[in-house]
Amino acid sequence: MANKNLNQAKNAKKDEFYTQLVDIENELRHYKEHFKGKTVLCNCDDPRVSNFFHYFSYNFEQLGLKKLITTCYKNQNRDLFSQNDSEQAIWLEYYGDRNGNRVPDPEEIGIHYFKGDGDFRSQECIELLKEADIVVTNPPFSLFREYVAQLMKNEKKFVIVGHQNAIHYKEIFPLIKENRLWLGYGFKGGAAHFISKYEDTATAGDHREGMIRVSGVTWFTNLEIQKRHEDLILYKLYNEEEYPKYDNFDAINI
Ligand SMILES: C[S@@+](CC[C@H](N)C(=O)[O-])C[C@H]1O[C@@H](n2cnc3c(N)ncnc32)[C@H](O)[C@@H]1O
Repeated sequence: MANKNLNQAKNAKKDEFYTQLVDIENELRHYKEHFKGKTVLCNCDDPRVSNFFHYFSYNFEQLGLKKLITTCYKNQNRDLFSQNDSEQAIWLEYYGDRNGNRVPDPEEIGIHYFKGDGDFRSQECIELLKEADIVVTNPPFSLFREYVAQLMKNEKKFVIVGHQNAIHYKEIFPLIKENRLWLGYGFKGGAAHFISKYEDTATAGDHREGMIRVSGVTWFTNLEIQKRHEDLILYKLYNEEEYPKYDNFDAINI
């Protein structure tokens, strides 16, 4: 059922669901050493609703960030659950707390207006991407391939949310194989509750008001994490019968 939710969302290009702060905290606690002196970009994030913006602005000093850039997409379709209904897409820059209260105040946040709609593929957004060291967000699932391709082309470090189905995409699997991308720690139980108004088909026990449960979501990254260096306990030997090759791909499933 939860997978059905995702497919429905993907087919209808329903990309409006928002990551919970607790899930961002749980993943990013494993990456803290990477952020010192770095410029972070969240480029699919309306700062009014994005917990990525919240996380990095409130933890700016603790992480030792240099700069936080957040870009907001002006949604063209008002029917979707979106707060992105401002007339113009905006982007924010934040250089940390200035008045000593350890809180990102409005007057400390620089607000700029895009000429275009804030699409991550637009030239204006690509200029900001070039400035960034690490990109962290939950991008639209319907544009995941393009999103990753752009990060790779610009040689950026990243921590992003995606669906595990993406592992099989012909654009993504080679990156895993070549050690250019790997999975992060992931969500508890391999499923996440996102803040959303879409109809949730989760069973009663899993239902949370105002949320949609999506199974099979995970984090993708190219930052070094401890998990990558844990030994894999192997206990079987390869044999052709148990591990047949795919018809269309020179690989086995283990
Ligand atoms: C899955 S939601 C996640 C939102 C936010 N990053 C979060 O985690 O709470 C994906 C977001 O990407 C935005 N989006 C869709 N197409 C986009 C595009 N072409 N460029 C930038 N953002 C886009 C959507 O409006 C949506 O808010």
